Amino acid sequence: MVEKIFMNQAAVITGAGVGIGYEIARQLALRGASVLLNDMDESLAHQAATQIQSEGGTCIGVGGDVADITTIRGLVAKTVQHFGRLDMAIANAGITIWGSFMEYTPENFERVLSVNLRGSFFLAQAAAHQMREQGSGGRILLMSSVTGHQAVKYLSAYGMTKAALEMLAKNLVIELSPYNITINTIAPGATNTPRNVADDPNFFPAWSSVIPLQRPAEADDIANAALFFLSPTSGYITGQSLVVDGGWSNISPTPSLDFVEKQ
Ligand SMILES: NC(=O)c1ccc[n+]([C@@H]2O[C@H](COP(=O)([O-])OP(=O)(O)OC[C@H]3O[C@@H](n4cnc5c(N)ncnc54)[C@H](O)[C@@H]3O)[C@@H](O)[C@H]2O)c1
Repeated sequence: MVEKIFMNQAAVITGAGVGIGYEIARQLALRGASVLLNDMDESLAHQAATQIQSEGGTCIGVGGDVADITTIRGLVAKTVQHFGRLDMAIANAGITIWGSFMEYTPENFERVLSVNLRGSFFLAQAAAHQMREQGSGGRILLMSSVTGHQAVKYLSAYGMTKAALEMLAKNLVIELSPYNITINTIAPGATNTPRNVADDPNFFPAWSSVIPLQRPAEADDIANAALFFLSPTSGYITGQSLVVDGGWSNISPTPSLDFVEKQ
């Protein structure tokens, strides 16, 4: 029986139909939170929410692209409409568009920035407005990556957005601390998600061979760290980033990236 440490709290999480975000949403809901789960794929959002409900969690699924600021503000408004408040906002949605720097297109650049940065920035802003109004503090979590710390070939645009999110969290400590709102980032390493395995059939053995703990992360490895930052006991931690990568960034070797070259 899990402890319901998030009872009477409401959360919004983006890009959570599958993968890391889904697992964070699931664990929050099973520990008592009411969760609004967003995904760009609306039917996937509904399906994921139904799955969490079937395990006993309170969760609603809402479609929408986080690159759109009106959508972002709508997610916060809907959380308050359904659950009466907002205590946690997790800007999890993020996309990876691999590609060499020399050939990277303006369209891909704009898309990566608009989802990873604009989506996260304005979710944090909309959530902070609501939390300030409630007057009881709150938790904001941004999803970074080890590639915001260490260089990985073909990820110049993506890595840049993740490093920027870490600076955003540091910076916002100044403006959000007076409202008792904490803001932190998690920086996952290679994680065993459906997207990664579909992109690179060799994903699991390739990363297992270069990660000191000899396996990629599972989504719950990342969710466990996320729940720590969101939990009532971490209220004095803000502006921090936690790397969850099985030790990879201590040495940072990459496996063959053949799958990008073949694209
Ligand atoms: N998986 C990894 O190895 C890894 C490593 C480091 C960091 N991250 C970061 O963790 C986060 C989650 O990664 P993941 O691999 O679980 O995600 P993912 O690629 O599996 O996508 C999860 C969901 O996000 C949705 N999504 C994509 N773009 C969206 C948008 N614009 N608006 C709303 N929903 C959108 C997709 O439809 C998908 O269902 C991302 O920010 C990612 O950059 C992932």
